[in-house]
Amino acid sequence: MRFKLSIVTFVFGLVVTSAVGWQVSMAQEEEYILAHEDVFGNLRRPQVGFSHETHVDKLEDGGCGKCHHAPDDKTGQLGYIDGDEQPCMECHGLQKANRIPALREAYHANCTGCHRDQIKSGNLQSGPTTCGGCHRKN
Ligand code: HEC
Ligand code: HEC
Ligand code: HEC
Ligand code: HEC
Repeated sequence: MRFKLSIVTFVFGLVVTSAVGWQVSMAQEEEYILAHEDVFGNLRRPQVGFSHETHVDKLEDGGCGKCHHAPDDKTGQLGYIDGDEQPCMECHGLQKANRIPALREAYHANCTGCHRDQIKSGNLQSGPTTCGGCHRKN
């Protein structure tokens, strides 16, 4: 069992937040509201809704390795390690650190990058690429 700082507000009826902010995490949620105020401070843009479920359904083999990675213990090479999917903020912080991009850039490169690639490769079902497409009020 792993304890971690609460970083996301879980939607789907129940909202699991506590003033203390600790919670047990066993698996991914189907729907996330990405609002990492503990990293970014007051958000300058509206929070981002992210459907984990839709992405896993739409992407080949669930797409796990398209988003999750960790450096290999021995070689330091980034790769997907099945069962070791951690929140991005575990490694990406407010500022760039050596070769590790800052959290905002990590999300943007990953999320917007894939949506752009999908559109480029002619996939009509892609995600938003404009600020307001992801950072939506409400
Ligand atoms: C494909 C989705 C997507 C698009 C498009 C996108 N963002 Fe983001 N952005 C995110 C996610 C996810 C985060 C992390 C949010 C969090 O965890 O709080 C983020 C974080 C941020 C943050 C840091 C958090 C904050 O609110 O202060 C800023 C600033 C930001 N984005 C600005 C922009 C701007 C400006 C654009 C357009 C040029 C843009 N984003 C486009 C997904 C997106
Ligand atoms: C399109 C990107 C994307 C895909 C595809 C994806 N995930 Fe995720 N996953 C995320 C994001 C973003 C989070 C939220 C973590 C965060 O706050 O940074 C998350 C959270 C998780 C968590 C919870 C981590 C924790 O400790 O809170 C697990 C476990 C997980 N994903 C497993 C998987 C598995 C297994 C697959 C493939 C079947 C998968 N994910 C596919 C982006 C993705
Ligand atoms: C266990 C630590 C760890 C976690 C968790 C992690 N990253 Fe990374 N990430 C790294 C490291 C280390 C690098 C720099 C690798 C290098 O270039 O040496 C990196 C680089 C990146 C890059 C730039 C290189 C590339 O692959 O395009 C992006 C984008 C990125 N991460 C996005 C994410 C996202 C999105 C998440 C969450 C879904 C995430 N990362 C979770 C460690 C992590
Ligand atoms: C590897 C490719 C890939 C990555 C990475 C990815 N997406 Fe997507 N995204 C898609 C595809 C494909 C769709 C279209 C799904 C559909 O409409 O059926 C989509 C749709 C969306 C949508 C609109 C549909 C919905 O679920 O509301 C949003 C919002 C979205 N993505 C946000 C994000 C955010 C935020 C991230 C980063 C945390 C992200 N995406 C990362 C491929 C990706």
